[in-house]
Amino acid sequence: MIQEIKNLKEKNNVLLVAHYYQQDCIVEIADLVGDSLELARKASSSNEDIVLFCGVGFMGQSVKILAPKKRVFMPKIACCSMARMIDDTYFDKSIEILKSYGIDEVFPITYINSNAEVKAKVAELGGVVCTSSNAKKIMDYALKQNKKIFFLPDRCLGQNLAQSQGLKSVVLGIDSKEDVILSDVICYDGFCSVHQLFKVEDIEFFKEKYKDILIAVHPECPPEVVQKADFVGSTSQIISFVNGLDDSQKVAVGTEFNLVNRLRPSKNGIQNTFVLSSTKPECPTMNETTLQDVLNSLNAIDSGEAYNEIILNSDVALKAKIALDKMLELS
Ligand code: 13P
Ligand code: SF4
Repeated sequence: MIQEIKNLKEKNNVLLVAHYYQQDCIVEIADLVGDSLELARKASSSNEDIVLFCGVGFMGQSVKILAPKKRVFMPKIACCSMARMIDDTYFDKSIEILKSYGIDEVFPITYINSNAEVKAKVAELGGVVCTSSNAKKIMDYALKQNKKIFFLPDRCLGQNLAQSQGLKSVVLGIDSKEDVILSDVICYDGFCSVHQLFKVEDIEFFKEKYKDILIAVHPECPPEVVQKADFVGSTSQIISFVNGLDDSQKVAVGTEFNLVNRLRPSKNGIQNTFVLSSTKPECPTMNETTLQDVLNSLNAIDSGEAYNEIILNSDVALKAKIALDKMLELS
């Protein structure tokens, strides 16, 4: 099957792209593997006219928005559960609630884990997209706009960023109107179900078991976990951090299982890299894509079928591009 995939890919000049959370068999055959920022940037500026994206829906959409002339297909239109927690209607409702609190102007930042319609809404209000790798830079830019920041959809990333800058954050719909009015960063109440699995108790367990162990986590983890970690970073930042450690340094990592499992395999039977959870933190939608799906997509592309092709409303895509381009310019 792998040879068939390679032949079809070459014949049709297809760039096969995979996020780090994909299954090993997909990562092994991909032309480009990375985190959401690297993939958006590199896949959209590649030479190939056709991109086959193994990841979740917003990632494929981002490539299509940034490079509208490319044809972008996905073996599975798998949707990130966090991205599904907000749409353009919920965005409008949130802005209405803020107006009813007397907050007429906000600077919106949307995490890239959101759909094109939400990115377009953010662009309409002059806001910008961020990923977990560039969120601090984007926040620094947003703070210069002298408005309250509306951060969506990931409340954890918003709260963690605010905490690291000494800013007051609240969650819309959870905290009181008075607290929202007094805050610097208003977070939408979305979250990643996978990164919610990591708990302070997991950190305590590993710290008790291995005296000098380090804890590295993704900023989608809850704030109380992030505050107790030794390192916080996006998927590629976690990879660089762990790869830079001495072979004997133990580390427990709080992010998706496939990525952690691939980091520093056991040597001479000694395991130094651990998954920071007793529950297997697998992203169900990332894990949906199989080699058979990749082959099916390539066969469809070869026979000229539009199978799971990303098609966007052109007005929405044009607006969303403004917020994504601004992010690339700032990062
Ligand atoms: P990265 O930006 O680190 O690739 O994260 C994307 C994501 O969905 C993490 O859950
Ligand atoms: Fe979405 Fe969480 Fe999966 Fe990342 S790990 S794609 S945020 S559901």
